[in-house]
Amino acid sequence: MKNNLRNTALFSLSLLLLISCSGVKQDVSFFIYNEADTFVSSLMNQIHSDLNQKGKSFDISYASLSQVTQNEQLAQAIENKSAKVLAVNIVDRLSASSIITKADAASLPVLFFNRAPLEEDLLAGKSAYYVGTDPTYEGKAQADLAAKLFGYPSSLSSTYDKNGDGKIQLVILKGEQGHQDTELRSRYCVTELYNLGYDVDIIASSYANWTKEEGYEAMKDIYEKYSSQIELVFCNNDDMAVGALNYLVDKKAFTKGADITSQPFPVIGVDATNIGISYIKDGLLYGTIKNDATAQAKAIAEFISYLSEGKKIDESFPYYGQMADGRTVSVKGITITKKDITE
Ligand code: GAL
Ligand code: CA
Repeated sequence: MKNNLRNTALFSLSLLLLISCSGVKQDVSFFIYNEADTFVSSLMNQIHSDLNQKGKSFDISYASLSQVTQNEQLAQAIENKSAKVLAVNIVDRLSASSIITKADAASLPVLFFNRAPLEEDLLAGKSAYYVGTDPTYEGKAQADLAAKLFGYPSSLSSTYDKNGDGKIQLVILKGEQGHQDTELRSRYCVTELYNLGYDVDIIASSYANWTKEEGYEAMKDIYEKYSSQIELVFCNNDDMAVGALNYLVDKKAFTKGADITSQPFPVIGVDATNIGISYIKDGLLYGTIKNDATAQAKAIAEFISYLSEGKKIDESFPYYGQMADGRTVSVKGITITKKDITE
C-alpha cells in the first residue's frame, strides 16, 4: 500500500514535470524554409545572438522546402500555444494568407522574414509584419557597379564591350521563381542599365534556385553555347555566382588568384556571405551587394521583443518611421568590391 502510494506520487510528479517541460512557452518559434540556405543560415546565426542578448527564448523548425511540412509545424505550435510569436521564413509565399488567418484566430502575432507574403495578405492580418532586404535597390546597385566598368554608354570600354557592338551582352542567373528577391533583382538590374543609357542584349537567363550546384549547371549550359559572347553576368545571389565561377574555373576560363580585371568578364552577386567575400578576395567575383543579415537580424529581434511582450507596434517602435505600410521593414545594403575588404 505504502509502495503503491509512493509510486502514484512519483508518477504524478513525473507527469507534472513532463507537462511543465512540454508546456514551456518560448518567446518565439522560428519556421525556416530550408536548412541548407547559406544566407538564411547566416541570418539565423545573427538572430540567435541578438535574442540571447535580449534574454528571449526560441526554438526552430525546418521545413526542407515543403510547405506541407511547414504548415504542420505551424499548426502544432498554434494548437499548443507553445510560443508567444511565430517567426516565419515561409516556403511558398502564396500560403501566407492561410497562416495569417490561423494566427489571427489564436491571437498570435506573426513576423515573416526574408520571404515576403503578398502585401494585401500582410495588411489583412491583425498582427502580421515582414522584415527583408531591398531587392529593387540591389538590382539597381548591381547595374550601377557594372556601369563603372563599361564606362559611358556612347563609348563603351573596349575591355568590357568585347565584340565592340556598343551593347552589353548580359547573362542573368535567377534565384527561385516567384520569390520577390528573384523577380525584383532580375527586373531592376536590367531596367537600371537602360535608365543609365546602355543598350542591353540578354543572351541567356536561367533559374538556379539560389544554390551553388544549380549555378554551376546553369553556367555550364550557358557557357557551352555562348562562351565568347558573354560580357557580364548578374546573379541574384552569391551562392549561384560561386557555383558559376566554380564551373568557369574548372573550365580554365577563370583563374583563381588572378587580378580581377584579367578575367574574361565580370560576375556580380548579391548577399556578401562569407563565401561570396572569399571569392572576391580570390579575384573571381567582381563584387556583390550586401544583403545585410546583421541589420535585418536586429530589426527581427526588436519585433520579437515588442511582440512577445504584448506591446503594440506604434510610434514607440524604433523602426516605425521606416515602415511605409506600417508592416514592413526593408533593409538596404552596401556595394562591396575588393577595395572594400580590409583583411
Ligand atoms: C534571398 C537571398 C538568397 C536566399 C533567399 C532565400 O534574400 O539573397 O541567397 O537566401 O533569400 O529566401
Ligand atoms: Ca558588346
